[in-house]
Amino acid sequence: MLSNQAGDGKRTSLHGHWSSRMAFILAVTGSAVGLGNIWKFPYIAGQNGGGAFVLVYLVCVVVIGMPVMMSEILIGRRGRRNPVATMQLLGKEEGSSNKWGWVGGMGVIAGILILSYYSVIAGWTLAYVVKSASGVFVDASAAAVSDQFSGFVGDWRVVALCHTLFMGLSVFVVARGVERGLEQAVRFMVPALLLLMLVLLGYSINSGFFDEGVAFMFTPDFERLTWNSVLAALGQAFFTLSIGMGAIMAYGAYLPEETSIIGASAAVVTADTAIAILAGLAIFPLVFANGLNPADGPGLVFDTLPLAFGQMPGGVFFSTVFFILLSFAAWTSAIGLMEPAVAWIVERFHKTRAQATVAVGLLIWFIGLGSVLSFNVLAEFKFLAGTIFANVDYLTSNIMLPLGGLLITVFAGWVMCRNSTADELRGSGKLYKSWRLLARFIAPIGILLVLFNAVF
Ligand code: PHE
Repeated sequence: MLSNQAGDGKRTSLHGHWSSRMAFILAVTGSAVGLGNIWKFPYIAGQNGGGAFVLVYLVCVVVIGMPVMMSEILIGRRGRRNPVATMQLLGKEEGSSNKWGWVGGMGVIAGILILSYYSVIAGWTLAYVVKSASGVFVDASAAAVSDQFSGFVGDWRVVALCHTLFMGLSVFVVARGVERGLEQAVRFMVPALLLLMLVLLGYSINSGFFDEGVAFMFTPDFERLTWNSVLAALGQAFFTLSIGMGAIMAYGAYLPEETSIIGASAAVVTADTAIAILAGLAIFPLVFANGLNPADGPGLVFDTLPLAFGQMPGGVFFSTVFFILLSFAAWTSAIGLMEPAVAWIVERFHKTRAQATVAVGLLIWFIGLGSVLSFNVLAEFKFLAGTIFANVDYLTSNIMLPLGGLLITVFAGWVMCRNSTADELRGSGKLYKSWRLLARFIAPIGILLVLFNAVF
C-alpha cells in the first residue's frame, strides 16, 4: 500500500507511493496489458500483412519502447508530480524551460482521446461476457459468430450502454485513488490471462492450420511493407506499452527511490510482448482454418475466439472467464489512461480526486459517443483515416504517442544532465550507457524517420 514517507530527503508525491517494487510492476503491467495486446495487435498485424509488420513491431518495442519507458519512469520519479507539472519543474531545474509542460499536456489529451474509444471496445468485451455465458457460441459456425458480432455493434443503443457501464467502472476505481484500487486485480489477472491464452493456443495448434498462422506472423514479406505499416507498428509499440502519453510517468511519480527502473521496465515489456504474440498465435490459425480474412479489422478477435471456445469442452466456462479477464485487463489500462488528467486536475485546480475523476470521465464518455456511432449509424461517415473511431485511433497511436515519446527521450537524453539520469537509473555501467545511447540517438532518430516518411 501507499506511504507518504520521504525517501532520503527527496521529493515525495502528493498522491502517496507504491508499497513495493512488486506493486509498481503490477500497476504498470496492468496498464500495459490490455485490449492493445489481445484485440488490437492481431487486427493491426492482420491489416498490415503479418510477418514484416510483426518484426518491425518487435524491433520498435526493444529499441524504442524500452528506452522511452525507462525515460518516462525516471522523469516521473524525479518530478513526483502529474506529468504536466513534472515536465515543467524538471524543465526549469535542468536549466531549460517550463514549456516542457506541454509534453505532459499532450499526454493528458492523448489519454482522454484514447480512453474515449478504448472504453467502447471494452464495452464490447463486457457484452461478450454475457453472450459467452448465455451459450450462444456453443457449436456456432463462423458465419453465426460473425453475425452475432455485426448484429451487436450494429445496435448503437446497446453499444452506448456498454460504453457507459465501462466508463462508470473506470471512474469508480480512479475516484477511490491509487492507494486502493489499482494493484490488487493484476496479481491474478495477468497469470490467468496467460493461462487462458495457452488453452487457446492448444486449440489452435490442433486446428490443422497452425503452420499457416505461424507463417503469416513470422514470415516477413518486405515487399508489402509500406511506411504506413511501419508507422502502424511503431504506434502499436507505443500503445501496447502505454508509453508516450505520461501514464507511466504518472505511475513513476509514486515509485519508491530504491526500485530499479531498468529491471522493472524489462519485466513489463517482456510480459506485454509475450501476451500479444500468444494472442496472435491463437488467433491467426483460426482465421485460416475458418476461411476468414486476417485484414478484417476491429472485429477480428470477436469473430475468431468465440468460435474456438464454442467448439471446446467447457467452452462456455472458458469463454466467459476469458472475456471477464479481458474486461479486467481493459479496466486496469483505463485507469492508467485517466491518471495523468486526474492527477493534473487535482494538483492544478485543487479539486478532490473524486471531483476530478467524474469530470474527466464525463468528458471521455461524451467524446466516446463518436466511436460508439462509428460502427453503426455513422459507419459510412468517413474522412482522412476513415470513421471517427479510425481517426481518433490514428491521431493518438500513430501521431501523438510517437511524438510524445520523441519529446520524452529528447528531454531525458539531452535536456536532463547526465548526473540526474545516472542518479535515477543508478548507474554508469553498460546498461546505463546503452539506455543513454538509445534515448539520445536511436529512439529519437528512429521515431522521426518513421513519422516523417509516413506522414509526408
Ligand atoms: N497499453 C494499453 C493496452 O495495450 C493501452 C494504454 C495506452 C493504456 C496508453 C494506458 C496508456 O491495452
